[in-house]
Amino acid sequence: MAKIKSKWVCQNCGYETAKSLGRCPECGRWGTFTEETQEVRTGLKTPALSDSMPCLIDEIEIDRSIRVSTGIEEFDRVLGGGLVQGSLILLAGDPGIGKSTILLQTSNSVCANGKKILYVSAEESASQIKLRAQRLKVKSDKLYIYSQTNFDTIKSRIDEMKPDMLVIDSIQAVYSSDISSSPGSVSQIRECTNILMDIAKNKNITVVVIGHVTKDGNIAGPKVLEHMVDTVIYFEGDRYKSYRLLRCMKNRFGTTNEVGVFNMCDDGLHEISNPSELFLNERTKNITPGSVVIATNEGTRPLLIEIQALVGTTSYPSPRRVSNGIDYNRLLQILAVLEKRIGLNLSKQDVYVNVIGGLEIDEPAADLGVALAVATCARDVIVSPDTVIVGEIGLSGEIRTVNNLDKRIKEAAKLGFKKIIIPKTGKTDLNEDIKIIECARLMDAISACVYKEDALLPN
Ligand code: TYD
Ligand code: MG
Repeated sequence: MAKIKSKWVCQNCGYETAKSLGRCPECGRWGTFTEETQEVRTGLKTPALSDSMPCLIDEIEIDRSIRVSTGIEEFDRVLGGGLVQGSLILLAGDPGIGKSTILLQTSNSVCANGKKILYVSAEESASQIKLRAQRLKVKSDKLYIYSQTNFDTIKSRIDEMKPDMLVIDSIQAVYSSDISSSPGSVSQIRECTNILMDIAKNKNITVVVIGHVTKDGNIAGPKVLEHMVDTVIYFEGDRYKSYRLLRCMKNRFGTTNEVGVFNMCDDGLHEISNPSELFLNERTKNITPGSVVIATNEGTRPLLIEIQALVGTTSYPSPRRVSNGIDYNRLLQILAVLEKRIGLNLSKQDVYVNVIGGLEIDEPAADLGVALAVATCARDVIVSPDTVIVGEIGLSGEIRTVNNLDKRIKEAAKLGFKKIIIPKTGKTDLNEDIKIIECARLMDAISACVYKEDALLPN
C-alpha cells in the first residue's frame, strides 16, 4: 500500500528536507521551503525504456531518428533539423514572449504533414486558442485543442487519441492528483515531467512542453527538469521590441549553438533570415561619435550589430561605468587598456556603453568595437560609417584573433560595408567586395577607422 509522506521542498532548486529550513543549504536562498506531501509507491515508477542487453559499440546499428519539420526554417535549425519523433522538448520563456504562438504555428505545419496533434492548454480556454488560431490563420482537421489541467485526464485522452505530437501549455499549470501539492510546485513538475518522458519514449510521441521562467531568467521548477528532457530551448527577446530569439541550451540530437530570429507581427511570428538588417535598420545616416558596427556571432551565424558609447565629464565623486549588453568587468578591462596603451584619460569621465537592440554579447570579439566606440566618443571623432570592426583586445593593447572570421567578413560584405577591421591573421585571400584591414595593435585599428586620426593620438 502506498503511504503518504510529508516533506519540505525548496521551490528554487528542489532540495528536500524533513523539516522546514529558513535558508536552503543547496542554493542559499531564504524562505523558499514549502511543505509538500507525496504518496510513496513501492517499486519502479517509470518502466525501463527497453529490455536490451549490453552490446559492442561497433555492432550498434544507428537508428536514424525520424525528424519532422516544424515548417518554420529557423525553428528547425535550432532543433538541429526538425523535431525528433519521440523526444521531449522544453520551450521556456517569459510570459507573453510568444511561446503559445510559435507552438500553434508549428502545430499547424506539422499537421499539414499528416500528423495528429493534441494541444493541451492548461492556461487558456479552447475559445481563446481558437481566437489566436484565427489570427494566425491556423486551420487543420488534425489539430485537437484540449483545455485541461488534470494530468490524469490528459493521460487517458492521450491513450485514446494516440497523437503523433503532444503540446503541454504549460508544465507549471498542470497537476497530477497523485500529489497533493499545488500545480507548479517542484514535486508536481517533477512527477508530470516523469510521466511525459514515459509517454514520449514508450509511445513514441513527440512531446513539447512549455515552461515559465522565473524573475532571474531560470526555468521555474527543479533543475532536474532540464536534465530529464532531451532538448531545452529558450525563447527570448525584448518585450518592447518585436524581434524574438530562439536559443538552444541543450540538445541531445544536435548542436546547441544555433539561434533563430523572429519578428512578432499582427499575424504571428515571422522568420527573419537576415537578422543583421533588422539590427542595423535604425542606424541613422548621420553617424555620431561613439557609434560602431561590430560583427558578432550568434550561434554559428554572424550578426552585425551597433554598439554605442557615451563619454562625458562626470559630476559624481567617482565616475560612472554603465554597460548594457556587454559584461561590466570586460568593459572595465577595455577601459584600463585604453588608458594605459593609448593614453586616453578617463579618470574624470563617465562611460556608458550600450548594445543596440537589447542584445547580450558574451564573446571577446566585441572588445575592439567597444574600445573604438569609447575612444572615438571621448575624442569626438567618428568611425567611418562603412566600417565593421572585429577583434579581441589583449592587456598589452594587441588585437587577438577570433573564430569564424570568414563568415563575419562575408556578412559585412553582404550588407554593403566597404571596410572591415580584423586581427592580423593573414586572412586576406577572401574574394569579397570589401576592403580587409588587418591590425596588430589597438592604435593601428584606431588610425584605420577614424576620419580624423590625429585627434586620437595620445594626449
Ligand atoms: P503568447 O504566445 O500568448 O505568449 P506566451 O505563450 O509566451 O505567454 O503571445 C502573447 C503576445 O504576443 C501578446 O502580447 C500579443 C502578441 N501577439 C502578437 O503580437 N501577434 C500575434 O499574432 C499573436 C498571436 C500574439
Ligand atoms: Mg501562453
